[in-house]
Amino acid sequence: MQLVFCTNNAHKVSEVSQIMGPQFEFLRLHQVAFYDEIPEPFDTLEANSNTKAKTVYERTGLDCFAEDTGLFIEALQGAPGVYSARYAGERATASENNDKVLLAMQGNPNRKAYFKTVITLIISGVVKQFAGECHGTIITEKTGVQGFGYDPIFKADNQELTFAEISPNEKNTISHRKKAFDLFAIYLKTLS
Ligand code: IMP
Repeated sequence: MQLVFCTNNAHKVSEVSQIMGPQFEFLRLHQVAFYDEIPEPFDTLEANSNTKAKTVYERTGLDCFAEDTGLFIEALQGAPGVYSARYAGERATASENNDKVLLAMQGNPNRKAYFKTVITLIISGVVKQFAGECHGTIITEKTGVQGFGYDPIFKADNQELTFAEISPNEKNTISHRKKAFDLFAIYLKTLS
């Protein structure tokens, strides 16, 4: 099955391809000649993901899905949340975003946080959403080099290591993305 994945983030495509298996082929936006930036103006993952998928579907007419993820930190009243990509500024690197979180959390004993992924799928005009969460804690310094984004500062519950220290395979068995894409896969099976 071929679907447009409304992203150009190679890390995300690689994780999702690994979770979903070889029977799915995902085309990135550049591969379907979609080069525009899609704004994410809303304050929920659901609304941003919905807009992204609808924009691509209306423009290309191709079955597609958008996947939006945020890191929600209890002590920061849910920040960076929907602003996770640009927490330390519009063009911030992952390392700068991590540093800003660590600084904001300095000395704070409440380290609780979770990742949430929301997927909006549009097939033949029918819109469905799926979500997954992974709960854990923010550690006090960046640790590990695997994964991407906030992985070096996030340790999932019942894990000794951060997402950036475990292998992609291991992350893909427990992550927010895995949980959301399991529901997505179950739904796709009902269509075939
Ligand atoms: P978006 O879903 O592309 O808007 O990503 C939001 C932000 O969260 C980006 O800074 C990503 O790097 C980060 N992010 C998304 N998924 C993950 C993940 O699985 N681990 C760590 N950071 C992530």
